[in-house]
Amino acid sequence: MLVTRRLPGLLYNYRYTVYSSLLLLCTFVYFLFKWNVLCTNLQAWQHVKKMCQLYEDGFAIGSLCAPLCVTKDIHSLTCHSFQATKEAVFSAEWHNIRLVFKSVPKDFQSIHWFDNGVVKYPTEKEFLSTIRTIVKNKLNLTLSYETAVRLSRLKPSYEEKDRLKRQKEIDNLWFLLQDNEYLLSALFTDKDVFPQLLGTCGPYYVVEYLNKVPDISSLLTLSDNREDWGRRLKISIQILDLLDELETGFREPFHLCDIKLEHFGLVKGGNKLKFIDLDGVLPKSVINNFIKEIESCEKDDDCDFYDCRSKCNKKTKKCSNYVANNNLQIVCEKIFLGWRMSKSVIVPGLLMSQHTPSELAYILRQCANPENDQSKARTSPKDEVKKRLYNVLSEIEQTVNNDFFL
Ligand SMILES: Nc1ncnc2c1ncn2[C@@H]1O[C@H](COP(=O)(O)OP(=O)(O)O)[C@@H](O)[C@H]1O
Ligand SMILES: *[C@@H]1O[C@H](CO)[C@@H](O)[C@H](O)[C@H]1NC(C)=O
Ligand SMILES: [Mg+2]
Repeated sequence: MLVTRRLPGLLYNYRYTVYSSLLLLCTFVYFLFKWNVLCTNLQAWQHVKKMCQLYEDGFAIGSLCAPLCVTKDIHSLTCHSFQATKEAVFSAEWHNIRLVFKSVPKDFQSIHWFDNGVVKYPTEKEFLSTIRTIVKNKLNLTLSYETAVRLSRLKPSYEEKDRLKRQKEIDNLWFLLQDNEYLLSALFTDKDVFPQLLGTCGPYYVVEYLNKVPDISSLLTLSDNREDWGRRLKISIQILDLLDELETGFREPFHLCDIKLEHFGLVKGGNKLKFIDLDGVLPKSVINNFIKEIESCEKDDDCDFYDCRSKCNKKTKKCSNYVANNNLQIVCEKIFLGWRMSKSVIVPGLLMSQHTPSELAYILRQCANPENDQSKARTSPKDEVKKRLYNVLSEIEQTVNNDFFL
């Protein structure tokens, strides 16, 4: 009673404190949104509005424009927070399929140009050779004629004959193809490691929705029963299988330079794991070139490309020509062992639990830091460690999960 009566007076007396706290709170919330720590479905709607505006103005085309803007079959928009680089990531529902929309950056020059006020486009032949150049530069891959043709169309097996529509298609494709994630999804449709590309609308593309790895939530609830342990083991083996496909399934190994548990996702049914965020997924030779091109270095950290690490030659102040660690090393360090500060584990990883046998813990440490580097590990685990890790995990997984089903 007393407090409610005195509240206005109190507020008045401390008005400057109240004003500044409110201001601070607002700034804090503003930055939570700005840095995409928080997001609202409103933001997703704004992107849809933008997409449909581009569609109505005739700039955006693609298989998903009409269901989104005309028949409105796509609904239940949900935003995804913790996005850092992409302008938009949100999911939606379409005939009981869950889709994820992502946007490509649009801040470079368009492919058409003007000659005395007349709009000009490259010929089909020139467009194909441009596509091959993009892929060569970005992925150090030489495309076959058929693949280049497939990438030069929004619908792989449909050739647009209408000249104006084709020009729009070229405009749209030009932006999409600059994006590493779109490029990988469009290129490797036959490999089952990246999310399936389901369609596009203007500078937005849509991929299949993948379910979160179940442990992400249980890490927070700290549940650590035997059933959970069995699940963690299964996911870990699926991660190792995925790394194996990335290592051997392509002309050269792909490196994952931005590894987080949120970047792994399960296909419906839960038996196939895929990698979600393809911005930092690059062939080894391309990463080597990135590192080679770093001007100069003082310390090893200067030679890192996110999780892809290299070493600094202190005498010449040049980074070494090669990426020194690999996917398995980062996965062991960041996913399996967990967040660490100097020598102690802060947030336990997927395989750190009360059930972890000491043999497994020992192998994991060897895998995460093969040469006992003082700061960050910059070495790839030996083949022997990889095999042992796989064998030990499979063995434990079988006993744990078989017990469970008996
Ligand atoms: N295909 C997908 N299925 C399910 N969730 C996804 C998918 N793509 C992205 N997400 C979610 O959205 C988040 C941000 O997407 P991401 O591609 O990593 O964007 P950014 O490049 O900005 O980090 C991911 O961490 C993931 O949680
Ligand atoms: C591209 O890949 C080939 C074959 O793997 C390799 O020999 C070549 O050095 C790479 N080129 C560049 C520029 O990295
Ligand atoms: Mg990401």
